Amino acid sequence: MKIKKIFARQILDSRGFPTVECNLELGDNSVVKASVPSGASVGKYEAVELRDKDPQKYFGKGVLTAIENIEKKIAPDLIDKEPNLQEMDKVLLELDGTENKSNLGANAILAVSIAVVRAQAKILNLDLYKFIAQVFGCKEILLPKVMFNILSGGVHADSGIAFQEFMIMPIKQSFDDNLHTAVVIFQNLKKLLKKEGYCVSVGDEGGFAPRLAKNKEFAEKKALDFLVKATQYSGFEPGKDVVFCLDVAATQLYDDQNEIYLLGDKKYTTEKLIGLYDDFIHSYPIYSIEDGLQEQDWDGWKIMTEKLGSNTQLVGDDIFVTNSSRIKKGIELGIANAVLIKPNQIGTVTETLQAIKLCKDAGYKTVVSHRSGETNDTFISDLVVGTGAGQFKAGAPCRGERVAKYNRLLEIEEGLR
Ligand code: PGA
Ligand code: ZN
Repeated sequence: MKIKKIFARQILDSRGFPTVECNLELGDNSVVKASVPSGASVGKYEAVELRDKDPQKYFGKGVLTAIENIEKKIAPDLIDKEPNLQEMDKVLLELDGTENKSNLGANAILAVSIAVVRAQAKILNLDLYKFIAQVFGCKEILLPKVMFNILSGGVHADSGIAFQEFMIMPIKQSFDDNLHTAVVIFQNLKKLLKKEGYCVSVGDEGGFAPRLAKNKEFAEKKALDFLVKATQYSGFEPGKDVVFCLDVAATQLYDDQNEIYLLGDKKYTTEKLIGLYDDFIHSYPIYSIEDGLQEQDWDGWKIMTEKLGSNTQLVGDDIFVTNSSRIKKGIELGIANAVLIKPNQIGTVTETLQAIKLCKDAGYKTVVSHRSGETNDTFISDLVVGTGAGQFKAGAPCRGERVAKYNRLLEIEEGLR
């Protein structure tokens, strides 16, 4: 069945800013849709998200140019053809012709790429994750272990906490059980925060955003203490039933001019920051630290990996940006031992699959991730299962655009039983 028509529209993401939705109309008049997310702590080396920059419209964040690129520049090359992920991603790359997708925009390109893979699966009458597993050559279809962001800081919340994400990862076998554990801890954390007089409104990814930093207390330590308390209060044992994961998002804390990291009013050199992680790892059941250092500091990452990498998962987000050549460099240099996978950092599904494959072949772990600005599109849930990527993060078990991903995992798990 061929693609009959392609149209796109500007929709809003979970922060209320514009993003791209692509619609493919197939020969039987059915329509397949895909929409793309948008980050706040965006890495310098990510593929370019095209914004209109018209200050009169949505603070310059409109995506009408990206929409026009889909309808006028991309559609003519895809219409009247059978949807085919690999071939069409190749066409998209050729049409764009740039290293960083700045011509057509990664937001335009990814929306088309996801819509194409969805259409192809639909025509084959396959669940999307099963089709992805076929394309990827995945032998083991696997529900992921999930990092749930339950306490938020950095640029995702106005909490005054420097680290961006404090996550819990329940480690039982089934996703269903782990989701339940996360929900219980999340709701009990709310209770405990309230009891101590903290605000329980949530950040962009659904985690609570309490102002823990009043009286200049050490907010990061306090946040970790709250994770321990909420876990225990819920009847689970930290380190046994549930482990903790951090996304420091250190690029956002780095003062380029003075070459120093700023945690509130405290200054940290690279060495001192690695020392702080070491202390935290010894005091709390921390399984994983993402972006412990900034995106350009390969030397620092090397030292951090040597110091902490044998016992702790060190995930590279901004430093790798789901880009195979950067990941390759990291593998060669022995930097990090895990990679965050965000399709919109690289811009096509095919390149995302290549990045996951590269990591797997090198023995690096992979964590498929949402962005802080999301839509209700659940592509990443199928992606993580279909590639057997192993780990996943899509925020708190709260807010529609986050639970959409978890609800899709429930549906997939049920289908596999
Ligand atoms: P972002 O944050 O989507 O705002 O970039 C997510 C992350 O840093 O992992
Ligand atoms: Zn990150």
